[in-house]
Amino acid sequence: MSFSQSHLLGIEPLHPTEITTILDLADQYVDLNRQANKHADALTGLTQINMFFENSTRTQASFELAGKRLGADVMNMAMQASSIKKGETLIDTALTLNAMHPDLLVVRHPHSGAVDLLAQKVNCAVLNAGDGRHEHPTQALLDALTIRRAKGRLHRLSIAICGDIAHSRVARSNIILLGKMENRVRLVGPPTLMPSGISEFGVEVYDDMREGLKDVDVVMMLRLQRERMDGGFIPSEREYFHRYGLDAEKLSHAKDDAIVMHPGPMNRGVEIDGTIADDINRSVIQEQVEMGVAVRMAAMDLLARNLRARRAEGKEVMA
Ligand code: NCD
Repeated sequence: MSFSQSHLLGIEPLHPTEITTILDLADQYVDLNRQANKHADALTGLTQINMFFENSTRTQASFELAGKRLGADVMNMAMQASSIKKGETLIDTALTLNAMHPDLLVVRHPHSGAVDLLAQKVNCAVLNAGDGRHEHPTQALLDALTIRRAKGRLHRLSIAICGDIAHSRVARSNIILLGKMENRVRLVGPPTLMPSGISEFGVEVYDDMREGLKDVDVVMMLRLQRERMDGGFIPSEREYFHRYGLDAEKLSHAKDDAIVMHPGPMNRGVEIDGTIADDINRSVIQEQVEMGVAVRMAAMDLLARNLRARRAEGKEVMA
């Protein structure tokens, strides 16, 4: 087993063998989660605090369930949008938290880098549940597990990530992970929704869905992140669906056994046709949700092992 991290702040710091370690352990937790008794004791005695400074239903629920199944005491702190202030306030929050002796801190924050900052100030393991446009590591890991189980491997696959790449931390974490595992990544979408400096990512970029999807193994659709847009990135939703929405005709350009993914929440009829999303022969969207709980269990289990080892040596765990 190889996993030497104190925190899970992003995919960037992970070695490919660490990614494999998380996915292998997650496979075991998938089996546990399918049993009637879903309890294990990896986090018994530990306190997990979920701090979501941005609305989330599925990710928070997934982390909560993961912690409870492993025996942690789980607390959700509702951080209202109005309480978001940068700098001092975030550090004050960290100091308050430290006084409560958490062991695992799960943080979602609208600002890129805010979770890294918190990790430097709290004395526990920190998991990034999505920070701004930066990273969403557990999403990329659950996507990787879904792909590995569907395709039987996680290397030398051709994967198209489609839509609103510019505003997406999911895309960013996936590009990094899939690149580390030696896959070919294509980004497909309108030039207005491509991030600047895209050439540094080692990906192929397409403006046309039919060309971009040609012969790929995996089609990963992204939500149009309207809340992060401050103007005219797309002409209209109808036009967007016409050019970039996934429908049966566009999907026919991918391999016959290509799988369809979406991190949720979906805008049906905007980035994906509802019948494709519901097609159990192609869509693995429900599997992604299932893998999410297992991957979060695995990540928290591994971080807790390292936390316990460090504490036994009398070391601080701050980043
Ligand atoms: C993603 C996120 O928050 O970045 N959603 C999620 O984790 N449930 C993707 C998105 O919001 O589109």
